[in-house]
Amino acid sequence: MAHFDELYSDRAGKMRKSEIRELLRVTEDPEIISFAGGLPNPQSFPIQDLKGIVQTVLSNHGKIALQYGPTQGIKELREVIAERSIRESMKGGVTPENTMITSGSQQALDAVGKIFLNPGDIALVGLPSYLGGINAFRSYEANLVGIPLDKDGMRVDLLEEKIKELIKQDMSVKFIYAIPTFQNPAGTVMPESRRKKLVEIAHEYNLIIIEDDPYGKLQYDGSTVKPIKAFDDEGRVVYMSTFSKILAPGFRLAWIIASEDIMRKLALCKQAQDLCTAGFSQYIAYEFMKSGSLDLHIMKICEMYKPKRDIMMNSMKKYFPEGYICNKPNGGMFAWVTLPEQIDTEAMFLDAFKEKVAYVHGKAFCVDGGGGSSMRLNFSYSTNEQLETGMKRLGTVIERKMKVLCR
Ligand SMILES: Cc1ncc(COP(=O)(O)O)c(C=O)c1O
Repeated sequence: MAHFDELYSDRAGKMRKSEIRELLRVTEDPEIISFAGGLPNPQSFPIQDLKGIVQTVLSNHGKIALQYGPTQGIKELREVIAERSIRESMKGGVTPENTMITSGSQQALDAVGKIFLNPGDIALVGLPSYLGGINAFRSYEANLVGIPLDKDGMRVDLLEEKIKELIKQDMSVKFIYAIPTFQNPAGTVMPESRRKKLVEIAHEYNLIIIEDDPYGKLQYDGSTVKPIKAFDDEGRVVYMSTFSKILAPGFRLAWIIASEDIMRKLALCKQAQDLCTAGFSQYIAYEFMKSGSLDLHIMKICEMYKPKRDIMMNSMKKYFPEGYICNKPNGGMFAWVTLPEQIDTEAMFLDAFKEKVAYVHGKAFCVDGGGGSSMRLNFSYSTNEQLETGMKRLGTVIERKMKVLCR
């Protein structure tokens, strides 16, 4: 086999494999109960409804849906998304022109990295934060600086201090990456006061806010909080959300809302990425939304996930030894568990694997190397029975580890 090491770019050398994607392979073994991936439950996919919608798309839009389409996405879908966003009280001039359809939010994250980050630039991210975002920004050789989270999400007080410190050191700070609602992996929700403060800080230091909101609609109790974009009068918030968790990730369909200026750059970027997002998926999502099915479907998903969240939390109480910390997430798909500090969840993964249960260790989400005794548990993918059995297995693994460490 020939070797090409000297041919790869420096950038390619700095790319890291996604630990989560590696772990997803684990889910292929049917004996393993996996809390590792961020997968929606396949039982939630509206297959019957989609059969009819696929027919409608082919009959009504077939020749356009199967053709190359506009880079920004089909107008019909951008219009319904913009209308919906305005209903959710977003400011910052939300129009179909300021909305772009992307091939998953992952593409949107890559695009913001591409248009904002020079090598060495600072992107501020939560501690912990979404690994896919971290990897996307790292691929542009950014310097990722972590801001701790508490039970209310990113600590905006520490954020401001950190920005001041970085500016003093002459560092080029570009954006704050926030997942304010049912954060991945921590499950936290930023209250309105913090969202407003975040916008004020971004204004003060002329920064962009990347608001990543895949889980905002998966809400099981409590009241809705407006997106950060709703407090943005200046167009400095780049908002993104996705159909992956509210319809199906297989469509690879998401959207991004940004000011005119930023949108122009994003569209140029997308031209080079993939020319356009699949028109067929876009028309399906459009017809699904137009028929009024989306809201109903989101309600059904929440009805399915809420008891799953409860089974996970109750099983944690029942099977985990004392000493763990986990705040009950009011929505989303994840519980973030912190074990006593002497437990290394990365090392414990192998023990869990032997007991046929999987999770993602906390270090994977922390750019400062922290999170060593934490883990992320997904509750949406498993059946209710698997949730209870898997948590029991995990409880046994933790208990055994604690006994060994306390000896
Ligand atoms: C916070 C966050 N952002 C972005 C994504 C990527 O979503 P998509 O399937 O739209 O690419 C995910 C997926 O899990 C996520 O959790």
